[in-house]
Amino acid sequence: MKFFLDSANLEELKNALEWGIIDGVTTNPSLIAKEGVPVEDQIRRICDLIDGDVSVEVVSSLAGEMFEEGKQLARIHPNIVVKVPMIAEGIKAVSRLSKEGIRTNVTLCFSAAQALAAAKAGAYIVSPFIGRVDDLGWNGLDLIRDIGSIYSRYGFVTQILAASIRGPLHVVEAAKAGAHIATLPFKVIEQLFQHPLTERGLEQFLTDYNNAFEKIPVMRPLQLKRP
Ligand code: G3P
Repeated sequence: MKFFLDSANLEELKNALEWGIIDGVTTNPSLIAKEGVPVEDQIRRICDLIDGDVSVEVVSSLAGEMFEEGKQLARIHPNIVVKVPMIAEGIKAVSRLSKEGIRTNVTLCFSAAQALAAAKAGAYIVSPFIGRVDDLGWNGLDLIRDIGSIYSRYGFVTQILAASIRGPLHVVEAAKAGAHIATLPFKVIEQLFQHPLTERGLEQFLTDYNNAFEKIPVMRPLQLKRP
């Protein structure tokens, strides 16, 4: 499964890249707005930091305008994937952009019917928002499973990106459900590494080691250093 960072923040990206497990980035108009920097400048800086897919969302809502905006975004960098909202006009834009060889990420997907339409329009990625589905009391992971079974039945190559991820369990369940990609807020990436038994186990190892070698002056005591 690929891991994308769900953020337009350069510091978060720089820190996340240190783990060596991040394969791409997703942004949306809210995440870009948070940075307060013109989208093209911020996206160029993101593309300079990571060699992987970088999803950038159009902000117009008519097919012709989304098509023009999408071409403009794609010209910023070869790694750009144009994010298009899952609306009727969006599907028109995805079909036209796909014919131009421009990769698209159909976002704000909440049903298997929407995902089927996106795949037929030639979407490179589809982004079901599993957290927001859960918020309504439905099961976001079932949506991933349904999309996956339809795509494999008909041989669609559109990648399923699990979005609106709220915690490590979403990542694990999305992987088990067959998502190709998960896009994670920085906080959730950090949570992936945490387990109380790991902490406790390491503490004990070091304590035992120190106790054993403290007596031997040549060996300096080891401490658990935190970054
Ligand atoms: O990837 C979409 C994400 O940015 C939205 O997440 O938590 O607002 O549903 P959330």
